[in-house]
Amino acid sequence: MTLVTDVVLRRVLDSRGNPTVEADIRTDSGGFGRARAPSGASTGAFEAVELPAHEAIAAAREHAVPRLVGEVYAGDQRDVDSTLRAADGTDDFSTIGANSAVALSMAAAHVAADVLGAPLFQHLGGTFRGDGFPVPLGNVIGGGEHAAEATDIQEFLAAPVGAPSVEAAVFANAAVHETVGDLLADRDIACGTGDEGAWAPPISDSEAFAVLAAAVDRVAEDVGFEIRTGLDVAAAELYDEEAGVYRYSDEVRDPDEQAAYVADLVERHDVVYVEDPLTETDFAGFAELTATVGGQAAAGAGSTETLVCGDDLFVTNVDRLERGIEQGAANSILVKPNQTGTLTGAFDAIERAVAAGYSPVVSHRSGETEDTTIAHLAVATDAPYIKTGTVGGERTAKLNELIRIEHNA
Ligand code: PGA
Ligand code: ZN
Repeated sequence: MTLVTDVVLRRVLDSRGNPTVEADIRTDSGGFGRARAPSGASTGAFEAVELPAHEAIAAAREHAVPRLVGEVYAGDQRDVDSTLRAADGTDDFSTIGANSAVALSMAAAHVAADVLGAPLFQHLGGTFRGDGFPVPLGNVIGGGEHAAEATDIQEFLAAPVGAPSVEAAVFANAAVHETVGDLLADRDIACGTGDEGAWAPPISDSEAFAVLAAAVDRVAEDVGFEIRTGLDVAAAELYDEEAGVYRYSDEVRDPDEQAAYVADLVERHDVVYVEDPLTETDFAGFAELTATVGGQAAAGAGSTETLVCGDDLFVTNVDRLERGIEQGAANSILVKPNQTGTLTGAFDAIERAVAAGYSPVVSHRSGETEDTTIAHLAVATDAPYIKTGTVGGERTAKLNELIRIEHNA
């Protein structure tokens, strides 16, 4: 019933106006599935390779499509994904592009769900998945690689850990975003937004913290549940490899100073989530920081332990995660399907993470589309957190899908 009979690949726009890959898959029983690849700007050096969309499409048509059509069943996700790996023939999807691979992998999941007549999260998670929901981490102020002339730290996040529902959490994050805008206007700070829709003001990181804290306090009082704060330092983007230092607009920090700086931020601002506090090769530095600020136990929604999360450090790669687990490098992993190229890769990373007591955080990229697959992935795997922005159509596509899933589940 889920035998793949037709595969179409095309270029479509992403939220930055760049071309990305969209895949359509049809099956013998008339099923239809569609998915699109996202794209990063502050990409990790160890991610699977994204090719220019037209090259990825041409290569996938040549190498992957003939191995899929009439050959594999979309309902067997592992077979689809190992076929994509075999068709590519490299470790990093540099032949067909991780962008073609992930679009095909996710489209296969969508068509299989369509044939079953089940929502995607149900197909992916099965009937014994939990009934919790992922807490959305909302990027409300940002800079780094996502906006020029803004903060050094890439993302200042609202973390509505006390929210009683996805819906309440999503609206709380939107209210924090709006309140941050009001507070910036009160201070006569005119600014636009970055790639993920966060405000991108020309202020220092410590001013950004002050604004974030004021907005979070105001909204928490209003909604009546706990909202904490989070950070994505995206430290690899600040790191000067040759000099071995982190370069901020107004300061240079060596690795020890960087770790002490982040630990101090976490303590001073009661930060519940910190992503990529150090550069993507510094497993030992991560381990020291995790020992300082991270909790030992698995930290889930509502936990007061600080999550130290590896994004560029792990790149959704099980081998890198394994190394991190051995060294105690973190207690959380960011999961971006396009960093590994398949849903199987994302699932394997989540499974290994959970077994080691790491909290998986399913995530969007700065370049996105209206694709909603990650919302279903987060629900299917009982991920305690999802990072998918706060406002803007490509972000609200996922947030609204989470609300729909909660409403209908
Ligand atoms: P990216 O940023 O999609 O540009 O890599 C998101 C992140 O660093 O978490
Ligand atoms: Zn990140």
